[in-house]
Amino acid sequence: MSLTLRYMQLSDIRQVATIDVMCFDPPWSHESYAFEINESNVSHMVVLEEIIGLAPPEPTRRRSWLDRLRRKGRGAVSALDGSGVILGYGGLWKIEGEAHVSTIAIDPAWRGKGYGEILLAGMFGKALQLKAQYIVLEVRVSNSIAQSLYRKYGFSRVRRRKNYYRSDNEDAWDMRVALDRDTRHRFERLYTKLRLQHGFLDSYSRKSRPRG
Ligand SMILES: CC(C)(COP(=O)(O)OP(=O)(O)OC[C@H]1O[C@@H](n2cnc3c(N)ncnc32)[C@H](O)[C@@H]1OP(=O)(O)O)[C@@H](O)C(=O)NCCC(=O)NCCS
Repeated sequence: MSLTLRYMQLSDIRQVATIDVMCFDPPWSHESYAFEINESNVSHMVVLEEIIGLAPPEPTRRRSWLDRLRRKGRGAVSALDGSGVILGYGGLWKIEGEAHVSTIAIDPAWRGKGYGEILLAGMFGKALQLKAQYIVLEVRVSNSIAQSLYRKYGFSRVRRRKNYYRSDNEDAWDMRVALDRDTRHRFERLYTKLRLQHGFLDSYSRKSRPRG
C-alpha cells in the first residue's frame, strides 16, 4: 500500500463528492470543488490517495481479488477504474495572515487509522509554507473526535457560534492555533512521527499549487 498526499485535481471530484455526501449535510456541489481546484486564488485542496499495487486480476482469480478489495473498504472498489483510491480530502484557504481549514473528511470505511491526522498535518504544513500566522476552523460542538484531533495540533476553542449549521441549527466552536515557535516545534515532532509510522509521500505541503 502506498499513501500519497497531493493537490486535488478535477478528476478526483467524483470520488471526493462520494465521501462528502457521507460526511456532511449539505455536501459541496461538484461546481464548488471545481472552483476551489481551478479558479480560487486562495484555496489549497488536498487528497490522501492510496495506490493499490495489485497486478491486474486473471479471469480465474477475479472473484477473490474483488472480494479482497471489498473487505478492505467500500472505497477501494473504485480502484477498478485504474486510478488510486481517495481515502479522504481537505481544504485550506490562505487569506493574508490567516489559514482556514475549510473542510476535512475521511471515508467512513477508513477512519481511526491515522489518515485524518495525515490530512490535518498536511494542511498545517501548507499553512506554514504559506507563512500564515494562525490557522482557524469551525467544528460542531458535538464533534468530539474532530476536536480531539485539532487539540492534538494545538488548536483551542475561542468562540461559540450559535446556530452556525443551517441544516440543524447546531452551534459551532471556532478553534484556532497561533503558528508560534512552540507550535511549530510540536508540529515538526508530530509530522516526523506520522511520516515514520505511515511512510506516506507528501506532494502537497511543501509543493507549490499546480496551475490548471
Ligand atoms: C475527523 C476525522 C477527519 C478524523 O479522521 P480519522 O482518520 O478517523 O482520525 P485519525 O485516525 O487520524 O485520528 C487522529 C486523532 O483524532 C482523534 N480521534 C480519532 N478517532 C477517535 C475516536 N474514535 N474517539 C476520540 N478521538 C478520536 C484522536 O485525537 C486521534 O489522535 P490519536 O490517534 O493520537 O488519539 C474523521 O472522523 C471524519 O472524517 N469525520 C467526519 C467529517 C468531520 O467531522 N470533519 C471535521 C469537520 S470540522
